[in-house]
Amino acid sequence: DKQPVRVAVTGAAGQIGYALLFRIASGALLGPDQPVSLRLLEITPALKAVEGVIMELDDCAFPLLHSVEATDDANVAFDGASVGLLVGARPRSRGMERADLLEANGGIFKPQGQAINAHAADDIKVLVVGNPANTNALIAASNAPDVPKDRFHAMTRLDHNRAIAQLSKKTGAAVKDITNVTIWGNHSATQYPDIFHAKVNGQNAAELVNDQAWLENDFIPTVQKRGAAIIDARGASSAASAANAAIDHVHDWVLGTPAGDWVSMSVPSDGSYGVPEGIISSFPCTTKPGGEYEIVQGLEIDAFSRARIDASANELVEERAAIRQLGLI
Ligand code: NAI
Repeated sequence: DKQPVRVAVTGAAGQIGYALLFRIASGALLGPDQPVSLRLLEITPALKAVEGVIMELDDCAFPLLHSVEATDDANVAFDGASVGLLVGARPRSRGMERADLLEANGGIFKPQGQAINAHAADDIKVLVVGNPANTNALIAASNAPDVPKDRFHAMTRLDHNRAIAQLSKKTGAAVKDITNVTIWGNHSATQYPDIFHAKVNGQNAAELVNDQAWLENDFIPTVQKRGAAIIDARGASSAASAANAAIDHVHDWVLGTPAGDWVSMSVPSDGSYGVPEGIISSFPCTTKPGGEYEIVQGLEIDAFSRARIDASANELVEERAAIRQLGLI
């Protein structure tokens, strides 16, 4: 039998946590024959709520769930962890400036990066979900100097999945027949969902759709603003779909992407496609079982895409400058 893999989840008492933990425990994250051991991190006042979630996890009698532990100490939560899902974050409140938001999140992601550096397993892989996810991931990575930088990702898989869904609606094709969609840049309204390399049943998606007005006025803004549309409709931000995307991201990172396809992952830029080195930005990525990923190379970028990739990368460069100024990296 396989040894259990330790998975740390922060913000475990939150909305996404509630949609995420049961799927991790069911085997959706690491595969149907891999036992998992959960370490749940919350702030002290939320520990009682976490105990309730643990009671429910117990009551599912998941065969793959080896153990669950809750803590308010990041050093305990990340001890021996091979996967870290960093979901808990400080949301933007009304009237909050960007610098205040980044500073508040620095207070969360700096110590968590330090705890990961000191205590996580050698094969630790971190996915930051909590917003502003890309820059929070950069804060955590920068405070974990002994962990390879490429182990810190931010989540743009929800945007990727949203783009597939919109393309499916437009073309009538099944989602399983849509491949090679890309989200470039930041998980924010500047992100650029790109269908110029996407395929629908093997055919180029942009050529098949052949509708520039739809692309510019419908598809791109719908994907960019989907989060806000869900808050407007549901009165709360996307949770089940965000949890699902986190599962997809880590699943593919550990177990590999299907041949011929790629996924969108926010990873440290190596300068590919002119994206400034060091920022954690979304790229088309392939992975091999075991946890290696590669940024897909050689895609042709036309002027339309170039302007949009640059705009989103610039936003990330500005966020990096702000966290530098705050002494967070
Ligand atoms: P939520 O407010 O329901 O839960 C967040 C939880 O984090 C709370 O229980 C809170 O107590 C906890 N928390 C706060 N500080 C913490 C700390 N220092 N350590 C451990 N836990 C801490 O929020 P929800 O809906 O679960 O969303 C979580 C985050 O995910 C938000 O930042 C949200 O913006 C982000 N998000 C990101 C998406 C993406 O695509 N990257 C999509 C949807 C949400």
